[in-house]
Amino acid sequence: MALILDGKALSAKIRESLKEEVAALAAGGTVPGLAVVLVGDDPASKIYVNNKKKGCKKLGIHSEEYLLAASITQRELLELVDMLNKKPDIDGVLVQLPLPGHIDERAVIRAIAPDKDVDAFHPENVGRMVAGDPLFLPCTPAGVMELLREAGVSPAGKECVVVGRSNIVGKPQAMLLLHEHGTVTICHSKTKNLAEVCARADILVAAVGKPRLITAGMVKEGAVVIDVGMNRLPDGSLCGDVDFDAVEPKASCITPVPGGVGPMTITMLLKNTVKAAALRAKKKGR
Ligand code: GUN
Repeated sequence: MALILDGKALSAKIRESLKEEVAALAAGGTVPGLAVVLVGDDPASKIYVNNKKKGCKKLGIHSEEYLLAASITQRELLELVDMLNKKPDIDGVLVQLPLPGHIDERAVIRAIAPDKDVDAFHPENVGRMVAGDPLFLPCTPAGVMELLREAGVSPAGKECVVVGRSNIVGKPQAMLLLHEHGTVTICHSKTKNLAEVCARADILVAAVGKPRLITAGMVKEGAVVIDVGMNRLPDGSLCGDVDFDAVEPKASCITPVPGGVGPMTITMLLKNTVKAAALRAKKKGR
C-alpha cells in the first residue's frame, strides 16, 4: 500500500498561510494582483483559468481575466502584455498556453516583464532558475518538490527519472531535482528502453500527456511515483500518465489524478503572485 500524496490537503495548508500574507500586504496598502490572459476557447485552458481565478478570490488576491478571440493578432496580444506590465495594481501576468498557431509563443513569453512573470517562463527567469538563483520557481515542478518535501522524500543521491522534456514541466523538473542533489535522467519520445530506464527510478516523474503510459512493469518496488499527467479520456473522465491501480501496490508513495500535482500547480502560482506583490511593497518602502 502506497502513501497517497494528497495535493489538495497540502495546497490547503499552504494557501492558509498565503492568505495571512495577502492580508498583511493588503493592510499595508498592497493588494496582490494577477492578470490571466486566455486566447481562444480551448476547453482545458478555460478550466485552468477558472481555477486560477477561484484560487485568487479565496485568498483575497485581486484577479483580472482577459478573454481574447483566437483571431487576435500577435501585435494586439503584445500590446495587452505591455499594458499589463505597466499596470500598477498587477503583480503577475500569466498568458495561458498553448497559443493559436499564428502567434509566436516565445515572443509573447519574452514580452512579459520578468518581475511579473509568475509562470517563470521568461528566459531571464529560466536562466536564473538553472543557475540556482531563482526569482520565481516554475509552478508545476515547484509543486512536485513541495509534495516530496511534505512526504519526507529527499532526492539527494537518488535515481530520479523524469519522463517528458517540455519547457513547462520536464526540463525545469529535472533541474529542481538536480538542485536537490538527485541523479537525474530525462526520458522522451526517442528514448530507447523507456521501461528499463523508468524501472531504475527511486523517484519517477511522469509528464508526457499519455494516458496510463507508466505501467507496473516500469516501476521499481518502493519507488516514489509522481503523476503530472492530466488526460481527458473519450468517456470524459480524467486520467494521469500513470496506470494508478496497477502501479500503486508497488510504489511507496504516489500522487493521484486528480488531487495530486494539479492543485499544487495553482498554489505555487498564487505563491509567486504573493512574492511579486511583496517585492512591489518593498520597492514602495512599505
Ligand atoms: N498551460 C499548461 N500549463 C500551463 C502553465 O502552468 N502556465 C501557463 N501559462 N500555461 C499553461
